[in-house]
Amino acid sequence: MWRCGGCQGGRPPVASTAGTAGLNLSAMATDFTEETAADAVVDSFAKTPDPRLRELLSSLVRHLHAFVRETEPTIAEWERAIDFLTVTGHKCDDERQEFILLSDVLGISMLVETINNRVTGQGGLGGGSPQKKTATESTVLGPFHMIESPRRELGESIDFVGTGMPCVVRGRVLSADGTPLPGAELDVWQANDQGFYDVQQPGVQPRANGRGLFTADADGAFWFRTIVPSHYPIPTDGPVGQLLLATERHPYRPAHIHFIVTAPGHRALTTHIFVAGSPYIESDAVFAVKKSLVKEFTQVDDPEQAARYGLDGPFCLANFDIILLPAPG
Ligand code: BEZ
Ligand code: FE
Repeated sequence: MWRCGGCQGGRPPVASTAGTAGLNLSAMATDFTEETAADAVVDSFAKTPDPRLRELLSSLVRHLHAFVRETEPTIAEWERAIDFLTVTGHKCDDERQEFILLSDVLGISMLVETINNRVTGQGGLGGGSPQKKTATESTVLGPFHMIESPRRELGESIDFVGTGMPCVVRGRVLSADGTPLPGAELDVWQANDQGFYDVQQPGVQPRANGRGLFTADADGAFWFRTIVPSHYPIPTDGPVGQLLLATERHPYRPAHIHFIVTAPGHRALTTHIFVAGSPYIESDAVFAVKKSLVKEFTQVDDPEQAARYGLDGPFCLANFDIILLPAPG
């Protein structure tokens, strides 16, 4: 509890001014008003040695205070919000990160990802030289990149179950000036045709089903076999699921295949390809769809083409050329 400056245990005033009543108190710290509250808290960070930390905290406080002034939460609403965040924390463990899921469904993960992976801009891409290509867009990592993908040969299948529509994904990894990137590495993972990742179904799916680590060939080309993945719901058994329920939002992500692509001297790319026409392609629960990442999975019925990929029936073919930005510096 606050005590006057002269009382035992009282805190000395910070920057004092003599008031009309003879008090020796800081105006900001001792006269809380709706108008001065944000300034008082921002001022309290004035001596923060790290300028970036000072900037982040000051801006956070200004935005939070503006939110509270605008929405005027009741005490009960504020307690409910604290409760929600507490339950969100309790839901987290080594395998479950409910705060990231919250950031995902609020669109923050995608915003941070997109700001940090602008495909044009600093490198001068997009304007000027006609050979320069716009880099492949990034999207969220998601929580299912949990185990190391096994190294596989080009052309190998990452599907070890055999249900679902067979599919070939192929493309080239190129630098922004169009130069192929031989030896680029592609870490790939996906859900099965029922919408489950291997790690969600231990004992049902073989370990590392739907995963592979591939190395592009001398032309930067890659290709692998798989099955067309299904759309699936994000985990809904926690507070984020409750939030979706309360707001009448669905939890589904459209069908996609994840990629992390790396090549020496280039910025790593975390992205997906989305299956064109998949349910929820226009309402992804985590806002991760970018038009440039939506790819046709074209059905091929030609047995000769199937044989070329080691398949013996109709399959879907998806093309995905990947453009990486040179690393800065
Ligand atoms: C995923 O694509 O694996 C994913 C991304 C964000 C939240 C949940 C799942
Ligand atoms: Fe996914």
